[in-house]
Amino acid sequence: MRIVLLGAPGAGKGTVAKSLTEFDGSVQISTGDILRNAVKAGSELGKKAKGYMERGELVPDDLIMDIMEVRMKEPDCQKGFLLDGFPRTIPQAEALKKLLEKIGIKLDAAINLDVPTDVILDRLTTRRTCSNPDCQEIYNIKSKPPKPDGTCFKCGSPAVQRADETEEAIKQRLATYNEKTAPLIDFYKKEGLLKTISSLSSQEIVEEVKAAVKK
Ligand code: AP5
Repeated sequence: MRIVLLGAPGAGKGTVAKSLTEFDGSVQISTGDILRNAVKAGSELGKKAKGYMERGELVPDDLIMDIMEVRMKEPDCQKGFLLDGFPRTIPQAEALKKLLEKIGIKLDAAINLDVPTDVILDRLTTRRTCSNPDCQEIYNIKSKPPKPDGTCFKCGSPAVQRADETEEAIKQRLATYNEKTAPLIDFYKKEGLLKTISSLSSQEIVEEVKAAVKK
């Protein structure tokens, strides 16, 4: 499947994308994970992105498009892709549209995960993420806890809070989402690709996405 996952920070994009990869082999492409790995590795990209991310602001569009133009042409994307956290602005959505036209690929759907703000705030403060860059399994101390010693079930590395999970950064991320990313809902509605899902159950969401893509 070839889908864009939209939704506020903490809406569950990463969780749903990870489940969907197990369904048909489509790859999850998370710009957030790519950037966090770059920050951890101390690469040029990481050095440029770090400050924006810690403040809860968006990384500039040109940096993101440089990464995504390369990533989306890689062979594993042929099977399908789940875009998690990209596009994030209207210019990114327009650039993605042009890129897909150039490589002759059509999106199946843009899935908007519609989750109330109180649920989002609760999820973000209770999330834990595997610190191993090759794993990055997502946990939640309430709904999906890591092992009792705080490590990841998959790879044994510590599951930790992200650097952008401070109260201040969360507030900024939500404001940034409302200003820059929420307009994409209208963009994809006009493209005829929007499917909004309001369920709070990951399992139900996964089934709804599969059904939407089959149509
Ligand atoms: P990014 O990593 O994309 O963060 P985000 O959009 O803020 O999204 P999150 O990863 O916080 O949440 P999610 O929706 O994936 O939820 P999750 O599944 O983890 O971006 C981080 C930063 O990188 C940005 O702020 C920006 O600086 C930069 N960036 C990234 N992409 C960019 C771009 N394209 N352009 C510019 N800058 C960019 O779930 C959250 C929690 O809830 C977890 O604990 C999970 O276990 C739990 N949970 C999920 N679903 C359920 C459920 N159904 N029931 C109960 N608990 C659930």
